[in-house]
Amino acid sequence: MWLPCRCTTKYVAASIRRGVSASSLHALRRGRSSWNSAAFMPESAGFEGVSGRDALHDYSVSHSENFWAAVARQRLNWIRPFEAVQDCDLSQGRIKWFEGGKLNVSVNCLDRHVHTCPERVALIWERDERGSEVRYTYRELLEITCRLGNLLRRHGVKKGDCVTIYMPTCPLAVASMLACARIGAAHNVVFAGFSSEALAERIRDAQSSTVITVNQGVRGGKITELKRTVDAAVQSCPTVRQVFVAMRTEKRVEVTDRDFALEEEMLKEDVVCEPAAMDSEDVLFLLYTSGSTGKPKGLVHTQAGYLLYAALTHRYVFGYHDGDVFGCVADIGWITGHSYTVYGPLANGGTTVLFESTPVYPDPGRYWDMVERLRINQFYGAPTAIRLLIRYGDQWVKKYDRSSLTTLGSVGEPINTEAWEWYNRVVGEGRCPVVDTWWQTETGGICIAPKPSEPDAEIVPGMAMRPFFGIKPALMDTEGKLLTSNNASGALCMAQPWPGMARTIHNNHQRFLETYFQPYPGYFFTGDGAYRSQEGYYQITGRLDDVINVSGHRIGTAEIEDVVNQCSAVAESAVIGYSHSIKGQGVYAFVVLKKGVDMQEADLSKELNSMVSEKIAKYACPDFIQFAKRLPKTRSGKIMRRVLRKVVDCDLDSLGDLSTLDDPAAVQEIIEGHEKLL
Ligand code: WTA
Repeated sequence: MWLPCRCTTKYVAASIRRGVSASSLHALRRGRSSWNSAAFMPESAGFEGVSGRDALHDYSVSHSENFWAAVARQRLNWIRPFEAVQDCDLSQGRIKWFEGGKLNVSVNCLDRHVHTCPERVALIWERDERGSEVRYTYRELLEITCRLGNLLRRHGVKKGDCVTIYMPTCPLAVASMLACARIGAAHNVVFAGFSSEALAERIRDAQSSTVITVNQGVRGGKITELKRTVDAAVQSCPTVRQVFVAMRTEKRVEVTDRDFALEEEMLKEDVVCEPAAMDSEDVLFLLYTSGSTGKPKGLVHTQAGYLLYAALTHRYVFGYHDGDVFGCVADIGWITGHSYTVYGPLANGGTTVLFESTPVYPDPGRYWDMVERLRINQFYGAPTAIRLLIRYGDQWVKKYDRSSLTTLGSVGEPINTEAWEWYNRVVGEGRCPVVDTWWQTETGGICIAPKPSEPDAEIVPGMAMRPFFGIKPALMDTEGKLLTSNNASGALCMAQPWPGMARTIHNNHQRFLETYFQPYPGYFFTGDGAYRSQEGYYQITGRLDDVINVSGHRIGTAEIEDVVNQCSAVAESAVIGYSHSIKGQGVYAFVVLKKGVDMQEADLSKELNSMVSEKIAKYACPDFIQFAKRLPKTRSGKIMRRVLRKVVDCDLDSLGDLSTLDDPAAVQEIIEGHEKLL
């Protein structure tokens, strides 16, 4: 059995808040091996006759059980070994991995590294205030996690409970996630940009009794009143018994009977916390994400399979080696932050950067200044930020030394060729492979990416390229038939299960089945379209449903419509995504007012924007609101969104078949209204 580490170092309050930077970066840098087959998977030695990346990929798909069993034994520390590798049936939406096995995720992320290299830096907190970064060693992070775990236990949090974490990206947020994992509770991290109503909806759905937050957030030099947002949210959350509040700033905030000062409470706790022995398929976390209809859904990820997949993809897609500094700039409120800021790097004993700021604060050199200062090796960001930075010019990049960089990653939305080339040529000086990684909250980790690949294999700009080990993509035509040839486009599905995939939607397994498994029986449906080139490489072409991607943030247009329709002046609305040069997609709302409404359009626009910002988040606010007398509809009353999309994209030549329209004049009105707005 894996025993937790006994840490006896004297603990000081300041180290929780500010971290202890005394320990030096444990630079265990090995000579960087190139992408040869032995380097990308030493375990492959166990797979007889398999050599080279492509052969290993074939093996991982054709001998999936052997592959995953070997990797799971090698990469995870088990309290009890698993008995069955998998019990999956995609046609039933049943996904179970490593049953019979017991482990603890926090032990895998912390204790085992504390045993071998306690002073290695686990986290570098790149605080909003430039140049004030704070380092946490594995030993320190384990201590904080244990104190937090004990605190939660003392306050009655048990296995099976779900703790909501509403915090910016910071060490205490990571420790909170790991503390939940340590005691067997699930966590539900809510992006700290969400409004109180959006937070309340997620707390209620998760039925959390406990919320962890900070007094105030600091981002881009601005203060956000996170505790106040939590106060407003919990008013409509009867399950919440206690709120733990960490101090990010000095500002005292109003406290109620249910509030506890996090750092003060932690000081009362021991630095050793017995880890719970968890079943492989126990819940590790819920993470809410948007779908095409209805409310956000709480995707459920479990222990062993998720951790294994996050760790393996982190190691091989980015070519991560011991001693490297990994800089994923995603917020921990999104799946990218979960898998590649927290779980993947920590399971691999890596040093991971927690980025609290924005790409342009205090100036557009922020990322590259950070790369120079922290000696970041792998940088992982979103195309929207790259597009924004291109506008400020190359000098902001060239000012800083980027020689530490080896790999540049992209995630969240398609990366256009211009952004890809700038990232490659200017940021990476043409020496760092750009890996465009495709995946989703549902997939747990990266599924398609250019790396790993055979040595010197090509990377085509803007293409996600190759399925990861164990991933078998499939494309379906409009009739639901499997497309077997190359040079084909279709709905992107997965033909085989893999350990990292989500297991269900919290409280709504039926919706899980309907969304992902029923559209193409026997396959997992991603909701994205893709093209497979002549050579067999994949390029993602975008969502096939009403989910859009605004600055890399995923949002359902139906969620925005729901809010707009709540305005008493609004009769109906249709929200669509349109191509935006920086954000990737922008939000365009068509709004029909109720008869007799007598209000200035400008005032109404303001009101609608503030409603969306209050009920969802700022990023979901429409860029354009077009007021219309009516919307183009079919005779059966369905809004023809296809037509609206074409109008907004100024693609009037391909409006398509309008014969099913109830009244074709509606289209002309929409076109005229759109022209006026521009
Ligand atoms: C989109 C983010 C093109 C896609 C990890 C997917 C991408 C959705 C890429 C998931 C990419 C993600 N190229 N599109 N490299 N990566 N997407 O759940 O539409 O926030 O379905 O997960 O983002 O968004 P989510």
